[in-house]
Amino acid sequence: MQQLLITCRAGLEPDIAAEIQVKSAAVGVHGFVRAQAGQGYVIFEGYQPDSAESLMQRLAFAELIFARQWMAVVEHVTLEAPTDRIAPIVEVLQQAPAFHGSWLTFPDTNDGKSLSRLTRKLEKPLEKALAPLQARTPDKADWIVQVFFLSGEEFWVGLTPRRNASLWDVGYPRLRQPPSAPSRSTLKLEEAWLQLIPEHLRAVYIKPFQKAVDLGAAPGGWTWQLVHRGMQVVAVDNGPMDKQLMESGQVTHLREDAFAYKPNRQVDWLVCDMVEKPARVAELMERWLVKGWCRFAIFNLKLPMKKRWQEVDQILTRIRAELDQAGIAYQMSARQLYHDREEITVFVGPKET
Ligand SMILES: C[S@@+](CC[C@H](N)C(=O)[O-])C[C@H]1O[C@@H](n2cnc3c(N)ncnc32)[C@H](O)[C@@H]1O
Repeated sequence: MQQLLITCRAGLEPDIAAEIQVKSAAVGVHGFVRAQAGQGYVIFEGYQPDSAESLMQRLAFAELIFARQWMAVVEHVTLEAPTDRIAPIVEVLQQAPAFHGSWLTFPDTNDGKSLSRLTRKLEKPLEKALAPLQARTPDKADWIVQVFFLSGEEFWVGLTPRRNASLWDVGYPRLRQPPSAPSRSTLKLEEAWLQLIPEHLRAVYIKPFQKAVDLGAAPGGWTWQLVHRGMQVVAVDNGPMDKQLMESGQVTHLREDAFAYKPNRQVDWLVCDMVEKPARVAELMERWLVKGWCRFAIFNLKLPMKKRWQEVDQILTRIRAELDQAGIAYQMSARQLYHDREEITVFVGPKET
């Protein structure tokens, strides 16, 4: 397969295009990117017949900041009269490598979302129609079929690598706003934990009775997540915190400048969601990590208006250089989350050996 389809937040196509262009070249897979603003996806056109597989073998999906999901393209299908959409999908998959399971997806745009009824309707019939072609043992199949609908008549049929892709078909977990959480931002931290920390480590890293600091905490959406997991939280913000959250008895609210605050001793978690210049937040995070004031950190970096990937890359490179210079063995992951606005979210923790 020569083409790779990568989905992203609508509007961030130039950023995923710039990112994949640089990261594909770095692993020796060459090609160019077709991107159109507002489409919610881009196409990497490799120069070799197996460029898509090569790239997926050499590049970890988790390293892509602006990608939601990806697939190696089997065929771009346009129907004249869409009476039967299932047969053409089955047809193009006749010669495909072993697969198990199928996802029906669409772009994260207004037009895309209007296709959710159609994809739900097609799920079961497609599953049934693909059964005879499917690998008998799911774990022996490296691929999951993905059909990415642009309209009722036009879709991309492809294969997503089971072990190197987002865990979620559309690229993010569908989360419900907890009724008692004081802000919508609460879902950013919940999604960050799910997206940025491997599943087997989550319960090791996030535990009751841990100590946490939330910089820029008000009204308390992120603090709510920490409290909900049984942590003791120092919430630093000049703004008011949610009353009910304060009644939990697990929160100390300090009306202080987050850039001046220092903890008395090391805490488990530092989280930071301030609307500030990204370079300034990065510098603050470096200080906390280099001085060992926290074990784990999750923070947001506001995206600039233009050249977002390039700026983000520069800032993350600088953080890495600072941590390397301080001799810290760390792991870092970063992603533009579904619940993020114009920002990306970064996780840093000790390196797993
Ligand atoms: C996006 S809001 C945080 C929302 C919060 N994470 C939630 O889930 O409810 C940003 C917060 O950062 C605070 N902030 C900005 N600069 C700050 C500073 N230098 N020190 C402390 N708080 C600051 C603002 O007062 C504001 O409440």
